[in-house]
Parts: sequence; C-alpha cells; structure tokens
Amino acid sequence: MDDLMLHRCLGFLFYVTALVVVTFFCIFLYFKYSFTHWYRRGVPYIKPKIPFGNNNSFGTGAFSYGIESLDWYREIKKRGLKYGGAWSWDNPLLVIVDPEYIKTILVKDFDHFTDRHFFHNPKYDPKNESLFVVEKDEWKYMRQNLSPTFTPVKMKTMFEGVKRCTVPLIQCLEESVKNGEIIDIKDVMSAYTIDVIGANIYGLQLESFKAKDSKFREIGREVFNITWMKGIKVIFFRMYEKIARNLGITILSRDIIMSFDQIVKDTVEYRRKNEVKYQDFMQLSMDLHDSTKDKDRPYTFDHLVSNIIVFFLAGFDTSATTLSFCLYHLAMNPEIQEKLRNEIMITLKACNGDLTFEAMKNLTYLRQILDETLRLYPPINALSRVTVKSYKLKDSNLILNKGDKIIIPVVGLHRDPEYFPDPDRFDPDRFSPERKNSIPSNVYMPFGDGPRACIGMRFALMQMTLGLVEILSNFRFSQCDETVPVKPKRGVFIMAPNNVIYLKAEKICND
Ligand code: HEM
Repeated sequence: MDDLMLHRCLGFLFYVTALVVVTFFCIFLYFKYSFTHWYRRGVPYIKPKIPFGNNNSFGTGAFSYGIESLDWYREIKKRGLKYGGAWSWDNPLLVIVDPEYIKTILVKDFDHFTDRHFFHNPKYDPKNESLFVVEKDEWKYMRQNLSPTFTPVKMKTMFEGVKRCTVPLIQCLEESVKNGEIIDIKDVMSAYTIDVIGANIYGLQLESFKAKDSKFREIGREVFNITWMKGIKVIFFRMYEKIARNLGITILSRDIIMSFDQIVKDTVEYRRKNEVKYQDFMQLSMDLHDSTKDKDRPYTFDHLVSNIIVFFLAGFDTSATTLSFCLYHLAMNPEIQEKLRNEIMITLKACNGDLTFEAMKNLTYLRQILDETLRLYPPINALSRVTVKSYKLKDSNLILNKGDKIIIPVVGLHRDPEYFPDPDRFDPDRFSPERKNSIPSNVYMPFGDGPRACIGMRFALMQMTLGLVEILSNFRFSQCDETVPVKPKRGVFIMAPNNVIYLKAEKICND
C-alpha cells in the first residue's frame, strides 16, 4: 500500500470514527434531555438508565415491561409517594400507586382518561383497529355494540359449548397419564382455551388437541414469542410513533392479519350461503356489520376482523396462563387441591355429575383459588391510560397534560404487604367471604376497573371454572422431577411463566 492510499484509508477511518462518536453523543444527549421530563414537570421520579429508562431486564426482555412495574411500584411506595415518574426507554410514564387516585383515573373521572397507550396504525393497519386500541368516541361506540356478547344471559347460552371443549382436554390428559408422560401444563391449557374461543366466539371447531400445529396454535405461539426483531420494532414505534405510523409499521405481522382475514371471510361466506345463524360473537359482529352499513359510523369488515383477532389474543393466553399458574400452586399445595376437589365433587353430585350453569356459583372455594392466582399473576401486569383532557390531580400540584401516559401497576398493588400480608404466599383464604371485604377497593383489579375494564371477564371465569372442574374431578396433580419453582417472566406485557411448568397427573377413580 503506498503512502497516498494509507493516507486516504486513515482519513476515511477518522471520518467514520468521528461520525460514530458524534452519533452516539447525539443519542446520549437526546436521552439525557428526555430523562429530564419529570424533573421539568416537578414530578418525583425513579432514576433512569440510558437507553433503557427504567426497563431493567436483559436481552429481549429489555424491550418491554410488565412485571418491571412491580419494581417501580415498590420504589415509589418506599419513598412515601402517591405517584412517580418512570421511563420505558425514552417514553415518560406516570406511575400511580395511590388507590384513591387510581379510582379517580379509572372510574370517577374516566372521561379524562378514556384511551390506552398502545401502538396502532389506523391508516396502514385498519385490521388492527380493535376494541383494545381504538380511542375516545370510537371506543365508546364499539364497546356499546360489543357488550351484548358477554351478558350473563349470553354466558348461559354459551355454557354447554364451553363444557363440550373440556372433552378433548380430558382425553389428552388421559392419554398422557396412560403413557406415563409428564405434562407441559401451559401447552395443554392453551389448546383448551383456543378450542373454547374458536367454538364459542367464532363458531369454529378448531380441534387444537388433534392438530398440535394448527394455524391458531402457531399464531398463538408466534404472537407471544418476543424476538430481537420484534423488540426493535416495539422500541421504534414507542420512540417514534408518528414516523412509525407514516412508515406503515404494523403491530402484528401481515401473515397473521391475512390468516385471520381469510378465516373471517370463509366463515361469513359459509354462514351466508348456508343461511346458518349461531348465538356467538361472530354472528353478533356480522349482524352489526349489516345493520350499520349505511350509518355515519359503520362497523366495517375491518372492525370485524380486528375484534376477532383481539378476542382470540386477549382471550386464550390470559386464561391459559392463569390456569397453568393455578394448577402449579395446586400441585405444590396438595391440601388446598383436596379441599377444592371436595367442593367440586359435592357440587357435581348435587347436579348428578353434570355441572349446570346455576351450580357454578356454589363453587366458592374454586373462585377464591382463581382470585388468588390472579392476584399473584395478573395476566396484564399494568393497566395503561392516556390523559385525553388536561386534568388537575386532587390535593396535589400535578396537572396532567393531554397525551400524558399513565401506568397503574396492578402487580405492585397485588403484591403489596400493606394490602396482602405475606404477599408472595399462595393463600386462597384471603378471598374467603369473611376476609374478602377487608381488602380495600382499587387494590385488587386483575380485570382492570371502570368503563374500560375487561369485556371478557365473565367468559374468562366461565372457561377457567369449567376447565378446573373437569380436570380436578378426573385427575390429581403433583410436582415431578422436572417441576421448577415458577417465576413471572420479565420484559413481557402479558404475564408468563419464566420456565415451562411441568406437572405429573394421576387419574382419580370416581366410583
Ligand atoms: C383471565 C383472563 C383475563 C384477564 C385477567 C383479563 C384482563 C384484562 C385487563 C386487565 C384488561 C384491561 C382493563 C383495563 O384497562 O382497565 C382487559 C381488557 C380487555 N380484555 Fe381481558 N382479560 C381476560 C380474558 C379475556 C377474554 C376471555 C376476552 C375475550 C374473549 C378478553 C377481552 C378483552 C378486551 C377486548 C379488552 C379491551 C376492553 C376495552 O378496551 O374496552 N379478555 N382484559
């Protein structure tokens, strides 16, 4: 290499190095400035780290937050504060820990906080404009129209359909017991809840136990699997929401959206052609679509697809995870499991072995166990709201500006020793009729609260109750060599176990 060439190479290297240094310096300054947000607003805050803010997990877990909000809750509470600022990367979040303020935001003055902060892209991704993400009046209108799907009367009509889905579940467990296999409980519970949603929301027999690699199971696995690429996408649309929207970035992959689009098209076409009508969500949506065609605010085909997607995503994993954590704790606490089985057997005997809709309400201990599982592992770790109209928080100097993002760390409240002594212990008696009333309001909210609380709560409780009744009246669960202590996974929006939950089942002789 001659001198001139060497000189050019060094020059090039110098410019590249300078560019990298300047870029990093600018990014550093950008984060430094972003992290003054709460200081400038006069709000006490948790010290952030560049570039993660207060997302303190590693690897792909650094991209999002969920159980991390427990750390935020504890730090703010430790300092005797009612709220405090935090950041997810450069995104400022106001974390509210005071139950009174929580009530104000979720219930009393809900009209100032109607929206959720969840990326969506109406222009380029209209098939993701579901109830979960739509805003303001659009949400109000959609919620009013979809609420009839989950009334107690509708639950009663769906009851037998949900019960039928327990048949393949029991067959699958029987097969595992016969073959002496240990059970990946989340895998089995996911197949069950996917079948339930398929049959009772879409009117489709998905047979997830037979087809382990069915489209729905594949989609379920794909959506909740956080990869580096997905993580980077999440950060990008959180940091540069407007740019991400203009670039047409979508939250779900095109493949998933198009799969659902096709499923809905086929189902609608089949029902119309064969003039069949069912009592399910799909029918309600089809009727809504037809009856609002000429209205100012039509319920479009895209709305139909988006809600079909969200009911699947919000409906199967939340319940499957809860059932898995629940069975884990029952396996670890045999005396609680026996007490529950006893209640189930007495209830079943009173209905000649076949549970009725009405008899479900007699399963009070079962409900305590579900409540306790949802306390320790609320599937949605933190609720989110956006201030839509400027608001002064009572008895404080804080004015919430339009666009301020709020976090309610449900998991923090649920594990606060002030409200739940010895909070990490699985103790269903906290929810006994005698003790339940001493739990202060707005500290226990696994389904959220106020007008925007979970629309599918009754359905979720029904599918979980029926699942547990059938499982526990047929099998006894215990830990096996492969069972490891469960811990919530970090860096995920929806609660998930950190490890696979393996359990051993043994058939009960009911004669
Ligand atoms: C154990 C099961 C479940 C739990 C713990 C759960 C929890 C939640 C929570 C915490 C929210 C947010 C509430 C808020 O922001 O105040 C929510 C919203 C929602 N959930 Fe559930 N959910 C469950 C099952 C279901 C099921 C089975 C469905 C439907 C089939 C469903 C559909 C939805 C929808 C559509 C929303 C958005 C509601 C709105 O914005 O108006 N969820 N859920």
